[in-house]
Amino acid sequence: MNFRKIPDDFLMGAATSAYQIEGAVDKDGRTPSIWDVFQTLNGDNGDEACDHYNRYQEDVAIMRDLGLQAYRFSLAWPRVNPTADQSLNKPGLDFYDRLVDELLSADIEPWVTMFHWDLPLWMQEKGGWQNREIVERFRVYADQCLARLGDRVKHWFTLNEPWCSAILGHQTGEHAPGLQLPLKDILKVVHNHLLAHGTAVEAVREFSSELKVGPVLNPWIPMPLTHSEEDILAADTAWTEHVGWWFEPLYKGEYPAQISQWWESDLPPVEEGDMELISRPCDFLGLNLYFPGFVRFKAEESPHQYEDCGKLLDLPRTEMGWQVYPPFLSYALERIHRFYSPGPIYITENGCALPDRCDELGQVHDRWRQEYLRTHIEQVISLRDVGVDTRGYFAWSLLDNFEWQYGYEKRFGLVRVDYETQERTLKGSAKWYRACLADRKLYAF
Ligand code: FCB
Repeated sequence: MNFRKIPDDFLMGAATSAYQIEGAVDKDGRTPSIWDVFQTLNGDNGDEACDHYNRYQEDVAIMRDLGLQAYRFSLAWPRVNPTADQSLNKPGLDFYDRLVDELLSADIEPWVTMFHWDLPLWMQEKGGWQNREIVERFRVYADQCLARLGDRVKHWFTLNEPWCSAILGHQTGEHAPGLQLPLKDILKVVHNHLLAHGTAVEAVREFSSELKVGPVLNPWIPMPLTHSEEDILAADTAWTEHVGWWFEPLYKGEYPAQISQWWESDLPPVEEGDMELISRPCDFLGLNLYFPGFVRFKAEESPHQYEDCGKLLDLPRTEMGWQVYPPFLSYALERIHRFYSPGPIYITENGCALPDRCDELGQVHDRWRQEYLRTHIEQVISLRDVGVDTRGYFAWSLLDNFEWQYGYEKRFGLVRVDYETQERTLKGSAKWYRACLADRKLYAF
């Protein structure tokens, strides 16, 4: 049988983030982040998580066994800067130093995210993302991380999913810091995220011309429900609002005009030089994409004239309630490539939460996850045939972990974690991933 080849220059890896796996929240000088104090739905927290801080060697050995080429992980800002004076906490960075060396000796490239939502509590006490001072503060932190790790870490991501950090954290309140602010403040929070991204790009550029840097974005992808002209136009409007609001400042140096008109009285104060900073060219774009969106025209919705109507489609769903529809990746990536020319694209997260079934022998049967991964990777690779420059894929996640407001109930891992014993077990999907990576073929079995 002919299985799709994984191109030689297509990077295959897996991803995690600091607060979701590390535990050891008060070790070596770390102070709390906004997630340490956030009330999750079932009371879970990241105090222990996967105890990766103490078990990183075992975890790197698992990555090596899987044959990962690259590992995407994040640095915890409150480990590096536990206090507001931002004096460097050396033991905090020592941990990442050890991790990076361990990865390199296992022949795995470290791809580092500077910020994956665990904002230091001291920064939140100063207003967090609402306070523009965060931009300078982030720059100080970025410089310290680069100074210590930039000799060995060649690939850097600035912010992970600023949409979640801004909108879920400050509009819906589902994420830390759990605020529900008016539009004016939300748009300011978005602007400050974009500035922080820009300042981190600048930090990387000033550190060395050999390093590569880019953002990690998670645009909601609204597709038209039908082929009617009205629905297609509705999807275009939704795109400008949801994708354009982030991509146009980053790639064109301006907020989209149409949406700016709607929100005119709430627009953020844009200072001189802001848009240049935000739109500094990057080396690649990271995209975290899990599920599609569908919209249709609705005249009564003001001013948008569309509604989110995914619920009308009877698609399979994961444990998160997210719909599964792999072709949305083609729609998303082709448009992003065409509209914004972001350069090489990496899927920096994709995967699914499932109620994994364990048998009496401790084996985890997750054939469904395997199919989810296979069908999505297939899309990402085949887009190369039509000129979309996709360069790699990071499965979310290496390990089951702390899934934010849902705690440990949602399991995304290739590797199962028993939270009582911290025992790691390769799931069926991990063994399949290993076989694919070893033979550079996307097996279907
Ligand atoms: C993304 C986050 C990641 C994880 C996955 C399931 O939004 O970046 O930390 O929670 O979703």
